[in-house]
Amino acid sequence: MDILLIGYGKMGKMIERLALEKGHNIACIIDKDDSWNKVDKKKIDVAIDFSTPSSVINNIDSCFKRHIPLVVGATGWYDNIPMIKQRVLDEKQSFFYSSNFSIGVYMLRMLNISLAKMMNAYPSYNPKITEIHHIHKLDAPSGTAITLANDLINNSNKKTSWQLNQAKDEKTLEIDAKRIGEECGTHIISYDSPVDTIEITHKAKTREGFALGAIMAGEFLCDKQGFYTMDDMMKEISSENIKKSYAKI
Ligand SMILES: NC(=O)c1ccc[n+]([C@@H]2O[C@H](COP(=O)([O-])OP(=O)(O)OC[C@H]3O[C@@H](n4cnc5c(N)ncnc54)[C@H](O)[C@@H]3O)[C@@H](O)[C@H]2O)c1
Repeated sequence: MDILLIGYGKMGKMIERLALEKGHNIACIIDKDDSWNKVDKKKIDVAIDFSTPSSVINNIDSCFKRHIPLVVGATGWYDNIPMIKQRVLDEKQSFFYSSNFSIGVYMLRMLNISLAKMMNAYPSYNPKITEIHHIHKLDAPSGTAITLANDLINNSNKKTSWQLNQAKDEKTLEIDAKRIGEECGTHIISYDSPVDTIEITHKAKTREGFALGAIMAGEFLCDKQGFYTMDDMMKEISSENIKKSYAKI
């Protein structure tokens, strides 16, 4: 696959290393201040964007103008999802986004949905989401915490909305966002009662899980048209493919 990397920071550099190890080619890199003219001289199969919340919408537009299939990992732009989805359909674009490309976080999402349904029978337990990230992170709460919160709310008869770092009433799910050192990303869903606490946690050890998932999303998307998420990829991806990718770490 010939890849256009958009955003050459921590994630962009890691995707470059792992994509080369998987036999892909980095055809072009766009970071802040780079001109898109250089993209037009290259053959590109897929673009992968790990830039910033404030630049991602312009980058999506630049890819759509060129009909380049695009995987977006950058977070903090999700109010625009309905508009982007409509553009994908109207303009026959190829688009994949996820707030978290880690396979482990996908498993946490499935557990979160099951637990939310189960806990509807036990109203004395109050759920909360905590996310911990490095001090350089620009958005809060994390995109993953928002996804987990929406999954929980959609399957709970107790919570109807979420709020950052506080809950204004019983129907509001609290998301606590903590920024500590160089933490890669930890997400905790907890249910607290007067007598005990239930917790499920995903803790990223390195950023490699996000990078591998984003490359897999590129492989999944490059010959498809439409709007895709992790749910679509996880239906198709084989455990053998995941095992092979993890074996390289
Ligand atoms: N979806 C996931 O699985 C996942 C995982 C990790 C991080 N992220 C998100 O990915 C994004 C990047 O994370 P990071 O840790 O690599 O951040 P980073 O700060 O290390 O890198 C961001 C890069 O984007 C560049 N940039 C700024 N403006 C740009 C523009 N207009 N065009 C192209 N590039 C531009 C910056 O110069 C920088 O090199 C963040 O939004 C983060 O929340 C998502």
